[in-house]
Amino acid sequence: MNDSSPSAPNSPAQHTSSSNNRGSGPADQAVAMDRMYRLTRHIYDLTRRYYLLGRDRLLDKVVTSPTTATLEVGCGTARNLIKLAGRRDHGLLYGLDASHEMLETAAQNSALAEIKRRGSGQIVLRQGLAEQLDSQRMFGRNEPFDTIFFSYCLSMIPTWPGAIDAAMANLRPGGTLLIVDFWDQRGLPAFFAAGLKRWLSLFHVHYRPEVHEALVELGRSGRGDVTFDSVAKRYAYIATIRKQ
Ligand SMILES: C[S@@+](CC[C@H](N)C(=O)[O-])C[C@H]1O[C@@H](n2cnc3c(N)ncnc32)[C@H](O)[C@@H]1O
Repeated sequence: MNDSSPSAPNSPAQHTSSSNNRGSGPADQAVAMDRMYRLTRHIYDLTRRYYLLGRDRLLDKVVTSPTTATLEVGCGTARNLIKLAGRRDHGLLYGLDASHEMLETAAQNSALAEIKRRGSGQIVLRQGLAEQLDSQRMFGRNEPFDTIFFSYCLSMIPTWPGAIDAAMANLRPGGTLLIVDFWDQRGLPAFFAAGLKRWLSLFHVHYRPEVHEALVELGRSGRGDVTFDSVAKRYAYIATIRKQ
């Protein structure tokens, strides 16, 4: 451990699209997320840049090429996917989120970004739950993904073990699962850690030491090679899991 659509789902590169299956599925988490982000989505990117640390470091670890397929689970406003789409060789980019509200902003943002880039780097967006991820059913893909990442998403999902299992199941052998999320703030003053914890709980966000432990266990079980990097004195961690 290192401490330091309107479109056919089979043609993902062609369109930025967002499904609109409101009301379907076990919708509790989706309803809660829609309630939370209905208004805040409009100021989300502006405000979160100051405390969702390590996202760009995670993106630096995402390897893309013209033939890769990359999925962000809990993509929110598509801020991360839009950054990847700015690469010359970004490959196929997909986003999944529980919140219809967030996906509306994501679709608007990625359409704007697309116009700026004159048509390159489209992103396929779908509504759905992380724990039900199914590459074929949700995205019409017969192949697993090369990279799947969660950026400050698992700390919002009460049923996070299912989300990790589903991601591993939809990743090709040798593919990479990346996670950036809040850590234990052990390197920071105690009052800071306590205040942050209280504040985050207002947004349904919870530091879950058990996620970290489960990832360590995943490495021990031989399902993947797992390494951790610390962001800002254990404010957050980036986990890199290479699937065996
Ligand atoms: C804190 S935001 C992070 C957004 C984005 N990843 C980023 O880095 O800016 C967490 C996102 O996870 C989504 N989310 C929460 N629970 C989810 C679930 N069970 N399945 C899919 N997405 C979920 C929320 O709707 C929200 O858009």
